[in-house]
Amino acid sequence: MSAPFLLDVRQIARYYGSFRALGEVSVSFRQGELAAIIGPNGAGKSTFFNVISGGVPASSGQVIFKGEDITHIAPHEYARKGIAKSFQITNVFKQLSAHENVRVALQMQATRFQLWKSRDDYPHIIEAANALLERVGLADLRRKLAGDLAHGQQRSLEIAMALACKPELLLMDEPTAGMSPEETQTMVDLIRQLATERTVILVEHKMKMVMGLCNRLIVLHHGELLAEGNPDEIRGNPEVRRVYLGQH
Ligand SMILES: Nc1ncnc2c1ncn2[C@@H]1O[C@H](COP(=O)(O)OP(=O)(O)OP(=O)(O)O)[C@@H](O)[C@H]1O
Ligand SMILES: [Mg+2]
Repeated sequence: MSAPFLLDVRQIARYYGSFRALGEVSVSFRQGELAAIIGPNGAGKSTFFNVISGGVPASSGQVIFKGEDITHIAPHEYARKGIAKSFQITNVFKQLSAHENVRVALQMQATRFQLWKSRDDYPHIIEAANALLERVGLADLRRKLAGDLAHGQQRSLEIAMALACKPELLLMDEPTAGMSPEETQTMVDLIRQLATERTVILVEHKMKMVMGLCNRLIVLHHGELLAEGNPDEIRGNPEVRRVYLGQH
């Protein structure tokens, strides 16, 4: 029997003035999936990401998470629902150490969940932060200022922070943007590992990279759903080939 839908995106559209960045896109994601939204520059990938993660409101349509309509919930409610995101642009506190960054993320959850209210719980936060840094391969760099970390390491740190809310669904917008081939490989390995424990949806324009990583691809073009399927189906799709002609 197939797994139930975790996230059901129904006829989502997003306009900027009269410009349609996304037009009536419907797509569902099952629990445990490692899926990628792909498409050329300007296809509407980030807009899709922002609409499903609460960054920008949908102009119309619905986003259903675990059977609940989350289309119009407040941005801060996503973490509580079990949805975390990492952005196309790195988003860490550069003046704080890696460990402090993760602690801040954990404490924000703590306040939200009314956990770790007393000083006695502080060692738990230290421990949890260590575990998260270990998880993303930054244990040895925990005392370094985030601003002094390499770009790829900052992205990993951001993921450690996103994991603080113990998400069931992790959304990532171009997790390997601006990375060297080595950094990209490290990130791909990390994503593969993270996806064994939760549902992961990435937005990516590097077709080759997601082909080897994801079991399902959703192709957007001019704000519309062009194709969806497994890597072999997408690779063999003439429409997709046409759109990507001349691109890497
Ligand atoms: N805030 C905005 N105001 C006006 N137009 C916008 C806005 N954000 C995005 N757009 C337009 O919507 C379209 C889709 O943009 P989007 O950023 O979603 O594409 P993308 O697929 O993420 O591209 P990239 O691969 O470059 O990240 C583009 O034509 C873009 O110019
Ligand atoms: Mg984008």
